[in-house]
Amino acid sequence: MVILKQPSEIEKIRESNGIVAEILAELKEKVQEGVTTLELDRISEELVLKKGAKPAFKGYRGYPFSLCASINEQVIHGLPSQRVLTEGDIVGLDFGVYYHGYYGDAALTVPVGKISKEASMLLKATEESLDRAIQEATVGNRLGDISAAVQKHVEAEGFSVVRDFVGHGIGRNLHEDPQIPNYGIKGRGVALKAGMVLAIEPMVNAGTYKVRMLTDGWTAVTADGRLSAHFEHTIAITDHGPEILSRMQ
Ligand code: MF3
Ligand code: CO
Repeated sequence: MVILKQPSEIEKIRESNGIVAEILAELKEKVQEGVTTLELDRISEELVLKKGAKPAFKGYRGYPFSLCASINEQVIHGLPSQRVLTEGDIVGLDFGVYYHGYYGDAALTVPVGKISKEASMLLKATEESLDRAIQEATVGNRLGDISAAVQKHVEAEGFSVVRDFVGHGIGRNLHEDPQIPNYGIKGRGVALKAGMVLAIEPMVNAGTYKVRMLTDGWTAVTADGRLSAHFEHTIAITDHGPEILSRMQ
């Protein structure tokens, strides 16, 4: 069941996502050669607590960190560690907060120094696919329009869309209905309505769409070891179109 939100609730989700966006912008600045993802996790937690909010992921289904940091072939849910970022890496930063009863959730993938042509094309295509999906999030459209927009753009750019993980509704819970696949058919699925709040999150692989899990129980990696990128925004569907609640300034 999809829970529609009143404007007063969207205001609260806007606040949670504003915190997410600020923190992701700060983390993006910290990404450089020599930094560990555990340092980024520590920074994210300090910042969120300082704002009087809680890290949404910590403790969620036993997840042990505040941040997900997925390097290169890691698709999502990479565990922060002592691994040092080196030039040419790409690192997905996925962060969520809980604030005044509502969740915020967003992600981006950041280059470390100079990256390969393939890596920069992958980042660009993934971010563009998210933008195109958001443009489809309008009253009168259907969920399949969002999914198809991601898939169409990604595949036209020669990349592939991960099937095993999806975006989601968000609000008083981190994960609500509907599930939002990053592949699908235009015109299918639930009708989009004003008051829906969605976390749209394309995960895009350079090679095969297939993924496998590491034995840490969390990290998803590409089956072929090639690169993967992830971008995510929380958006609200309004009568005047989509509003990105997690936009970085
Ligand atoms: N953005 C991810 C999601 O929406 C992050 C969840 S990580 C978890 O599913 F640790 F909380 F599971
Ligand atoms: Co999410």
